[in-house]
Amino acid sequence: MTGRTGVLAGIGAWLPPDLVTNADLADRLDTSDEWIRRRTGIRQRHAVPAGMAASDLAVEACSRALKSAEVSQVDAVVLTTSTPDRPLPATAPAVAARLGLGTVPAFDVSAVCSGFLYGLAVASGLVAAGTADRVLLVATEVYSSIVDPLDRSTAVIFGDGAAAAVLRAGSADEPGALGPVVLGSDGEFGDLIRIPAGGSRQRVPLEPGDEYFRMAGSEVFRHAVNRMSEACRQAVTAAGWQLADVERLAAHQANARILGALGDELGLPPGHVLSNIDTVGNTGSASVPLLLTQAAADGRVEPGQRVLLTAFGGGLAWGATTLTWPAVPALGPSEHPSRRD
Ligand code: COA
Repeated sequence: MTGRTGVLAGIGAWLPPDLVTNADLADRLDTSDEWIRRRTGIRQRHAVPAGMAASDLAVEACSRALKSAEVSQVDAVVLTTSTPDRPLPATAPAVAARLGLGTVPAFDVSAVCSGFLYGLAVASGLVAAGTADRVLLVATEVYSSIVDPLDRSTAVIFGDGAAAAVLRAGSADEPGALGPVVLGSDGEFGDLIRIPAGGSRQRVPLEPGDEYFRMAGSEVFRHAVNRMSEACRQAVTAAGWQLADVERLAAHQANARILGALGDELGLPPGHVLSNIDTVGNTGSASVPLLLTQAAADGRVEPGQRVLLTAFGGGLAWGATTLTWPAVPALGPSEHPSRRD
């Protein structure tokens, strides 16, 4: 299997048009712009209009990633989300069909906010195994459909959005080649982030609000910094790098304070730590690829730079990997989509 590695060939993102500012939230919740900014770093987040679902965002993001990669066909579609269009079937086949990708294998990966890192491992595994020469990986989230609008501790944090990447078969020494992907989980702490109802354990809500996302924020915070820094160290070592080689950190945008603590823990200069949390909030598994798309589009990450990716979230589950940024166009939310009809 030597010589066949997943290489980033294209990337794109999309954000739904509606904006929710901190002032909007302060109008209906016991919170304030000052608290939200100081404790999270968030100023605004995007939200879908009524009727828009995860697949709708995914199609937009995928169109941009395919256009970025200058391809119209792939061999598989891997989709990550915590907010599928429906509990069943998976959302990926609908996205593949709407993109005109034919009968390619298409399936969802469930790893909450670490979904994109898990998805990268799956997609590059498909490439390495020779199952696919090109994989479309998309992370799409409609957190506004699962966050309790009356819960100030989560309603202020999460936003909607999607981002996608095309991985192609290539060699490990090319720009864009993914390094080893480090993954981990700890189900002992599974209750820290959960939706109580809706699964086979508890089909319908027993208590009011059981259908909504719940997070024990301050406990999660501690795990997030520890797990991401540990995974980052492992991924850097597995890639044959030193931490001093890392020129950009693209970490899950959960909280600006987490990003600061993680950067400090890894000894990275603040300018190396990418962030867009102020304008998009926490977009779940879309967070890392959305950040990369926006940062590459506006020059905060440049071809040739060594980038460290990491994410953490419900499960608990986490991951990290490395790549040298390739010379591919990053098509951000405002770029014209590549419609396929
Ligand atoms: N506005 C005002 N006050 C708020 C608030 C809000 N939006 N949300 C919570 N508070 C209050 C709490 O009720 C609590 O009040 P109390 O002291 O009277 O009980 C106080 O602020 C502190 O709450 P706490 O939860 O300890 O705050 P925090 O500083 O930990 O910030 C989070 C809360 C959620 C922002 C933070 O814990 C966080 O980002 N956690 C990590 C999230 C994460 O890593 N997610 C990854 C997977 S998605």
